[in-house]
Amino acid sequence: MKTIAIANQKGGVGKTTTAVNLAAGLAIRGYKTLLIDLDSQRNTTQTYFEPEQITVTLADVLVGHDQRISLDEARYATHIENLDLVPSHIRIAMLDQMVTLQEQYRLKEALNSLPDPYDFVILDCPHTLGLTLTQALLASEHIVVPIAAEYYPLEGVVDLQETIRAARQPNPRVSVLGYLVTRFHQRKRICAEALDKVKEMFGDKVFETLIRDNVSLQSAPAYRQSIYEHAPKSFGSEDYENLTEEMLSRLSMSPHLKLVDNKEAHG
Ligand SMILES: Nc1ncnc2c1ncn2[C@@H]1O[C@H](COP(=O)(O)OP(=O)(O)O)[C@@H](O)[C@H]1O
Ligand SMILES: [Mg+2]
Repeated sequence: MKTIAIANQKGGVGKTTTAVNLAAGLAIRGYKTLLIDLDSQRNTTQTYFEPEQITVTLADVLVGHDQRISLDEARYATHIENLDLVPSHIRIAMLDQMVTLQEQYRLKEALNSLPDPYDFVILDCPHTLGLTLTQALLASEHIVVPIAAEYYPLEGVVDLQETIRAARQPNPRVSVLGYLVTRFHQRKRICAEALDKVKEMFGDKVFETLIRDNVSLQSAPAYRQSIYEHAPKSFGSEDYENLTEEMLSRLSMSPHLKLVDNKEAHG
């Protein structure tokens, strides 16, 4: 089970867009994927579900003492085959303040006690540098950091690195799989400058795939769809497809689990 945190506490950099579409891309390729919404703003949850469809959430798993439920009970099957989601709740914000040292491992423990492991767990991290992010990093093996191609692209990234460094003491296996430049405009000078700055800072840790600014990525959630369903021929679809493949290649994993399986099955 590969657990990947999509993290950058700066808002609007494309965490949710990346979490939603990366998870969908992996599921479409045949990988059993669990998407967990750790942000109390619940944008990932709302991408796939109407509020009235949801009765239990991640808050029932992580918050409080008695009567907590298992992660297993908080999963919802999405309309995409192989993709389940654990929704967020406004109470998740409470975790940012009062979590004891032991309680910081609740997410990790919850993942470990799933009866049927996933190939991938994608964590959409919150828009704050708090204990919820720490909890996500303690439960993860990889981190993908989306960075918007705008003025001061690296703003806040130093603080994020500090948080990652702190999490690496108790969880040395967690590291950054890649920095992802998002909201890229080919013809805007500011975007080229931002890309240069990010590459200067992180070198080949920067994904070759750039996520271009694409209006279909913005409208897809209103239809409760991934980009692949909403606008399969869009730049957004193409870019997230490339990202999924680049990520799988960085992890030395096959781009298509199903096809490989079938081939193997038929010799
Ligand atoms: N590549 C993109 N092109 C166009 N709009 C985007 C793109 N990525 C994100 N957005 C939009 O920007 C806003 C913030 O993105 P989001 O993924 O929610 O960021 P975060 O989760 O980091 O706050 C959303 O309205 C989203 O639809
Ligand atoms: Mg978000």
